[in-house]
Amino acid sequence: MRLLTVIAQKGTKMICWGDMDTTIRQIRAREILDSRGNPTIETEVELAGGSRARASVPGGASTGQHEAKEARDGDPARFGGKGVQHAIAGIHTTIAPALAGMDALEQRAIDGCMLELDGTAQKERLGANAILSVSLAVARVAAQALRLPLFRYLGGVGMHRLPCPMFNLINAGMHSDAPIDFQEFMIVPRGISNFSEALRCGSEVFHALGEALRSKGFSTAVGDEGGYAPALRSAQEVLDMLLTAICRAGYRPGEEVFLALDAAASTFYDENDRRYHLRKSGNKALSSAELITLYAELVEGYPICSIEDGCAEDDWEGWSQLTRALSKRCMLVGDDLFVTNPLFLQRGIEQGIANAILIKPNQIGTLTETLDTMQLATSHAYTTIVSHRSGETIDSFIADLSLLSPFIKAGAPSRGERLAKYNRLLEIASIKQCPHYQHPTS
Ligand code: PGA
Ligand code: ZN
Repeated sequence: MRLLTVIAQKGTKMICWGDMDTTIRQIRAREILDSRGNPTIETEVELAGGSRARASVPGGASTGQHEAKEARDGDPARFGGKGVQHAIAGIHTTIAPALAGMDALEQRAIDGCMLELDGTAQKERLGANAILSVSLAVARVAAQALRLPLFRYLGGVGMHRLPCPMFNLINAGMHSDAPIDFQEFMIVPRGISNFSEALRCGSEVFHALGEALRSKGFSTAVGDEGGYAPALRSAQEVLDMLLTAICRAGYRPGEEVFLALDAAASTFYDENDRRYHLRKSGNKALSSAELITLYAELVEGYPICSIEDGCAEDDWEGWSQLTRALSKRCMLVGDDLFVTNPLFLQRGIEQGIANAILIKPNQIGTLTETLDTMQLATSHAYTTIVSHRSGETIDSFIADLSLLSPFIKAGAPSRGERLAKYNRLLEIASIKQCPHYQHPTS
């Protein structure tokens, strides 16, 4: 689209006609490193009118089996096989020529074109990492050409609420060497109705927790998502430490601040014996029913408002039992279960499984499909949580996206790649045109 812009002097005399042409002129990609020092992709899109913007994509560690596939070179001589040079070549030789001349405002057509070029169910030809980096950069450059903040471009005038942050303060599972199988222990300041106060709470509890751990002789080194990784022995011990920290920081657990878990249960499920092997903590093997009993005890004893991936991605029977047992008590969030894919979510809706979904754009690989999944979830009363990955960049796209959602999960308030998201939300909160922001308290 060609937008004619007029810059007027003193309201009347025209001094310049600028041509804001949103036709895609050039796409350039490069290999950069993520927060774990692994290669990832950064893509820059330039429009005929001169606007330019870039986006980079994250990578997971506990990736779902049904996620869209990242393209990795597999050359052991570079980055242990994790290089992304082929994916970048695909952007330059296949994607860029096809998108050149298209209108950056036509996000759905652009994403559709990339899906056609790829032609595979899990985007393994061009790679979800390549496709998503272009998809996000196109949205950002379109917003820029229109002189809109990204969140306004994505959601229009309806974007008037900031999300409630979920801070992952203890990193275990595959994200640290802590001897606990559940991957994440979060605090959720749901009872604090202002984003910047909720972020302050996250920071104060994080520091109180550091003090509490140090005073008991535990390590305060942090894991992949910025949370501590102490040698605590059980989920209960971790939850007790979190309650102590919340109180020491001066907040009321269960009123202002709640707890949340991401068990990431696919990472310790064995399909052969259909049991959950808690190898890091005591080497126990639990059936789905026993694991659900453990969750029920935790929910009984602690102010837990959310359990993510409580069962494994292929244990739909376990998920069904879990939903029957706890869906009235807390959010049951499908991450590896739904992989931000409308087809998996549809199956969950039909079978009455889970009541919330994690939204990770790189699990599905385009912005359009991400938005479709969010819309499907919302229209069936599934709560959405926009989420980072454990391997991140300083790109803050998901912060803008999270205004479409009641929650954002972006790690602890520690490490630059995590703070990039929370600080962007502070910036959004301070943009004058935006009304007062509140997140839901129920
Ligand atoms: P991942 O972990 O990015 O390593 O997959 C995040 C999560 O499971 O929520
Ligand atoms: Zn998860």
